[in-house]
Amino acid sequence: MNSIVAYINLLLSIKFPSMIASRIKKIAIMGMFLYLPFSSMAWGLLGHRIVGQIADSYLTRHTKKEIFKILGYESVAMASNWADFIKSNPSMSYLSPWHYCDLKGGLNEEEFKTALEKDTSVNAYTKINFLVKELKNKDLEQDKKVMYLRLLIHIVGDIHQPLHVGRPEDQGGNKIKVMWFGTSYNLHSIWDNQLINYQQLSYTEYADAINHTTKAQRKELQQQPLVTWFWESYQLSERVYAGIKEPDQKLDYKYNYDFLEPMNMQLLRGGVHLAGLLNEIFD
Ligand code: ADE
Ligand code: ZN
Ligand code: ZN
Repeated sequence: MNSIVAYINLLLSIKFPSMIASRIKKIAIMGMFLYLPFSSMAWGLLGHRIVGQIADSYLTRHTKKEIFKILGYESVAMASNWADFIKSNPSMSYLSPWHYCDLKGGLNEEEFKTALEKDTSVNAYTKINFLVKELKNKDLEQDKKVMYLRLLIHIVGDIHQPLHVGRPEDQGGNKIKVMWFGTSYNLHSIWDNQLINYQQLSYTEYADAINHTTKAQRKELQQQPLVTWFWESYQLSERVYAGIKEPDQKLDYKYNYDFLEPMNMQLLRGGVHLAGLLNEIFD
C-alpha cells in the first residue's frame, strides 16, 4: 500500500504543462484506481473462484438450471468475486461487515457456538442466514435474486478463510504485519492471496488438484450446520494466530509447508458446503 501512496503523491506533485500531459496524468490516476481493488481483496480472486468451481461440480441438474435463470452464463466461479468488485462503491459500503465474523480468541466449541448464535449484529453468520431465507422465496424480484446469489456465493467462500473468523482486536489479522519472502504484508492478506498465489495454479487447475471427495465425505460436510463451518474456520484461525510469535515475522517455505494442507482443506470444504447450500435452496 505504501508504494501506492507514494505513486499518488508523485503523480500529484508533477507539474504538467499541456492539456495532453494533463490527460496522461488523469489516465495514470485512473489506472491506479483500477489496480487498487486488486491489492486489498478478501479471500482473493483465486480463492473465491476455486471454491465456486468446486461447488459447481456438485450441483444437481435442477439447481444448475435454477442458477442459470438467475446468473445466465455467469458461472458460480465468475460470480464469486462480484461482492469485492463493488466494495469501493460508497453506496455499497454497508455490505463490508457481511464478509466476516470476528470473535475473541480462546473460546471452546460450546462457548464459540453460543457466542455466534446469540450475536445479532451484521456479520457473515447473520447475513448468510438472511440470504438463504431470501433466496428460498420464489417471488423475490429478479435483481435481488442476482445480487443475493452473488453475495451468498462470495460470503460462503470468505468464511472458509480462517481469518474471516478471526479476532476483532487485529481485524482478522489485518493489523498484524509479517514478511512474506522478504516483502511486507499483513497476515490477513497472506491468507487471502499470497499463500494461494504461491502455488502458481489457475483456479481450474487448483480446483482439479484438490477436488477429490467421496460421497460419504460430501454427505458428512453437507449435513453440518452453519455454526460448524464457522467453528472449523475459527479453530484454524487459532492455529494461524499461534504461528505468529513476533512483529514482522518472516514467513516463507516453511509456512507454506505447514499451512498448505489446512488451507486446501478449507477451500475444498468451502466448495462442498456451498454446493450443499445451493442444492438446499434451489433443488
Ligand atoms: N475487518 C475487520 N475484521 C475483518 C476480518 N476478519 N476480515 C476482513 N476484514 C475485516
Ligand atoms: Zn469478501
Ligand atoms: Zn479477506
